[in-house]
Amino acid sequence: MKYSASEQKALTTQSKNYLKQSLTTQDYDALIKLLSFHEWKYYVDNKPVLSDFEYDQLFDQLKRLENEHPDIIRPDSPSQRVASDLKSDFHTVPHLIPMLSLGNSYNADDLNDFNDSVIKNAFLDAGTIVEYVVEPKFDGGSIAIIYENDLLTRAATRGNGTQGEEMTANAKAMASLPLKAAFSSYGIHKVELRGESIIRKDIFEKVNEKRAKNGETLFANPRNAATGGLRTKDANETAARGIQTFVFQIGYAVDKDGNDKMSDIGQHDKAVEILLNLGFKTAGEAQKKCKNIQETIDFCQAWEAKREDYPYEIDGMVVKVNDFSLQDKIGSTAHHPKWAIAYKFAAKQATTKLIGVEYQVGKVGSITPVAKLEPVALAGVTISSVSLHNEDFIKERDLKIGDTVLVERAGDVIPYIVKAMEDLRDGSEEPITFPRICPAHPEDASVLVREEGESAWRCPDVDCPAQRLQKIIFHVSKDAMDIDGFGKSNVEKFFELGYLQDISDVYHLDYQKILALEGFGEKSVEKLKKAIELAKQNPISKLLHSLSIHHLGKKAGKLLAAEVSHVMDLQTWDEDRFTEVKEIGPVLANNVMQFFKEPKNIELLNRLQQYGVNFAQTEEDRPKVVDANAPLVGKTILFTGTLQQMGRKEAQQLAEAAGAKNISSVSSNLNILVAGEKAGSKLKKATAIGTVEILSEEDFLAIVRN
Ligand code: IVH
Repeated sequence: MKYSASEQKALTTQSKNYLKQSLTTQDYDALIKLLSFHEWKYYVDNKPVLSDFEYDQLFDQLKRLENEHPDIIRPDSPSQRVASDLKSDFHTVPHLIPMLSLGNSYNADDLNDFNDSVIKNAFLDAGTIVEYVVEPKFDGGSIAIIYENDLLTRAATRGNGTQGEEMTANAKAMASLPLKAAFSSYGIHKVELRGESIIRKDIFEKVNEKRAKNGETLFANPRNAATGGLRTKDANETAARGIQTFVFQIGYAVDKDGNDKMSDIGQHDKAVEILLNLGFKTAGEAQKKCKNIQETIDFCQAWEAKREDYPYEIDGMVVKVNDFSLQDKIGSTAHHPKWAIAYKFAAKQATTKLIGVEYQVGKVGSITPVAKLEPVALAGVTISSVSLHNEDFIKERDLKIGDTVLVERAGDVIPYIVKAMEDLRDGSEEPITFPRICPAHPEDASVLVREEGESAWRCPDVDCPAQRLQKIIFHVSKDAMDIDGFGKSNVEKFFELGYLQDISDVYHLDYQKILALEGFGEKSVEKLKKAIELAKQNPISKLLHSLSIHHLGKKAGKLLAAEVSHVMDLQTWDEDRFTEVKEIGPVLANNVMQFFKEPKNIELLNRLQQYGVNFAQTEEDRPKVVDANAPLVGKTILFTGTLQQMGRKEAQQLAEAAGAKNISSVSSNLNILVAGEKAGSKLKKATAIGTVEILSEEDFLAIVRN
């Protein structure tokens, strides 16, 4: 570990003290040490001790000192991660030693054969037992990073293996890579490391959600997002995509006189231990030193079974002979080392026929093309349709109806079409013609529009029936007004019967009519009525979100709700007033302004008010002030199982008031899991991660009440 427990404690205490002081240049070195520590806690150790807000405060102090005294700026200052004057220019640079590829194996027989060939190539006696190290084969973009004099001086992509493209600025922007690492304490002056840059699966989902909101094209999978992010001209973008680098190998190391240091290190597991000690992100628990080939095989197979649970995309394991001198004896081909091999997991790709395209209209009118496929089994599920996202996605892949297409399902990521198999075309394929008028109501000939910078075509008609339906479905959903028991199929049924024409109708349903419908009884209607009455009292943050204003998500709903005492106050806001709110940009501002300009929308809002929906700011809407000393500041928390003393919502509010952030899934990002009665898979998963603090309901209450 880079920092001992006592060091961590001391650095945390010092940080809290620094937060209360105005710092001077005398504190500069210590401040860099603290910020580097917090980068490590957050990006490498996955256990942040400061809230984002507190980190920003320390960082602002650093920036202030550097602005006032530019001469003190150190190259390893965290401010230099995205320094504006440094840009990767992607010129070609030679690697210090070639970046080879790996041979492949797929089963136990292949690995036994590999073990035999290792023994043969090292001229060992038949039956000699060889020690291996096994670690995940990270599925991202490979990079080579050079440290000289303990400083990160150059990074490059793999390129053709002998030469890569320089991308130092982008590497520096990744906070998981230390800008300074004390290789000198191992007598190493210059070193070339090998690593894989990768995006954690849950972060990838968020990156795509954000892109979808901004109308940008989605990344097909984490690998594409990561490799693209390495090669972007803007290092800020590399940082924004949350790309992290696992370092898995020391490829080259020399001392001040240029003498080799690799033989001093001796073994691969020792090299990785050095990297861990110096603060790099390594495979950690996912790596194992195996006594012999059978243990190696067992470990590979165990990982194949649990690959989905790992927070990162991996396409196999890598098996390496541990001993460097043995590696040297065995040697390499021009393509791959003969002392290492990849154990590839079963493919998650299949081919099938694209038989048609349907067009779905979303709640803000965006048209999503969906490919209909001949059903095909893929990693345990049958797939018969996949999203094609937008027109550009279809064009980029030159997809045609009748094509045989390659479909991939990677990890938790939804399946997608990789490409059309052009060789299999017989000329009968038909082009896909994207509609120009809204497919939901062709009789109105509503011409689709595509705004600049957006990837989606949209139907601009406020009366578009598909949009009206989708808006109601969204309005009542868990994400928006959260009307319990008002499922999609009920909305569809009521819409078809004309009971619902827009969202205001939700609040003046004729319950007598519903009671007469098949499948409804006194009890279920009463329940529905109760849930609707309850929703009328929702905070306005939910109401704002539930209106389906383009780009107005949950977060923007909260931000706006905190600013107004009544929803209709927004009617008078201009762009400047909107963008005064931190994190609200001009695009969203104009969407909201346009919404309030449309007389039909004002009529709709009036009806909602008339039917009793709350339009006034509630206690929950008002901005909360979290005390920096609150017991759970900076922690992420999740509740699972049945709580005895309070409801789930109440517990979440208590946690928030204590400074914690509620998150919805178990990953290495989670700090605290509160396990109520009958906690199931989430508790299991959190326990397996090993770093999540598990609390009982009583423990939790004791902490927040303190
Ligand atoms: S070792 C000399 N270890 O896989 C040995 N590679 O197919 C070469 N990769 O280009 C690589 N995780 O980018 C090694 N734990 C790991 C790896 C790994 C991912 C990538 C690497 C390499 C490719 C080879």
